[in-house]
Amino acid sequence: MVSGTVRSYDSIRSGFMTVFGPGTYGDSFADVYDQWYGQITDAEATADFVSHRCLDGPVLELGVGTGRLAVPLVERGHEVIGLDASMPMLSQCPQAVVRVLGDMAALPFAEQAHGVALCAFNTLFNLASEQAQQEFFHQVTHMLAPGAPLIIEAFTGTGLDQSEPSSLGVSRIAADRLVLAATIVDSSAQTITGQHVDISEAGITLRPWRIRWTTPDQLDELASNAGLHLVERYASWDQQEFDPDGDLAISVYASR
Ligand SMILES: C[S@@+](CC[C@H](N)C(=O)[O-])C[C@H]1O[C@@H](n2cnc3c(N)ncnc32)[C@H](O)[C@@H]1O
Repeated sequence: MVSGTVRSYDSIRSGFMTVFGPGTYGDSFADVYDQWYGQITDAEATADFVSHRCLDGPVLELGVGTGRLAVPLVERGHEVIGLDASMPMLSQCPQAVVRVLGDMAALPFAEQAHGVALCAFNTLFNLASEQAQQEFFHQVTHMLAPGAPLIIEAFTGTGLDQSEPSSLGVSRIAADRLVLAATIVDSSAQTITGQHVDISEAGITLRPWRIRWTTPDQLDELASNAGLHLVERYASWDQQEFDPDGDLAISVYASR
């Protein structure tokens, strides 16, 4: 791996726009990601949490995006390997991060001893099937040094309004721009398929996405199947006590 270059894996590029593929979310949101989500969670608190739990070896961030969390980790002295399926996202990630283009359900690495793996801000849910999420756990487990943790930040699903299968709302509004958010929820498959419809004088941009949410108990089961067990769980990056009825779970897994 060479810092400053982006390694390419052609197999992940197929299907965009006709079906949802690994790059769909990132390709659709890359041009607005930092503007819309740059401050969405506390990146410094995240970096402190991850840094304190990192054993010897580089940090592996799955779904690194534009480097919002990876850069503060580099600033804390870590080598950070940032994997992402979207070239438009990765191209905005600073070169201080070792950037790798690839699918986090089909990791393009030989076995490596990473000091910690991080999958933050609901990124795991971009793998929109149980099978793909299970594959993620199996593969990431093999990328960890003995005892090194896998840290996952994801919403719990308890706050989801599943009373209506579809919804249309206003996501953002400005004098010269309107962003509508349309979603369809499939409760039995635990999937949400969405479109952010971005309307301005320049035209209409479609920003499609699809996720599969997984409850904390289901996450624990996927982890257990891969030989990991839950070590810690919090409601926030500053380590507030986890509330099973709350919205967020920050879960730390390690091998038995
Ligand atoms: C919600 S963003 C999070 C970015 C960054 N971790 C942050 O917190 O700002 C999700 C990122 O995961 C990437 N992603 C989605 N599916 C992926 C997959 N199957 N493999 C690798 N990256 C993926 C997207 O391209 C996007 O950059």
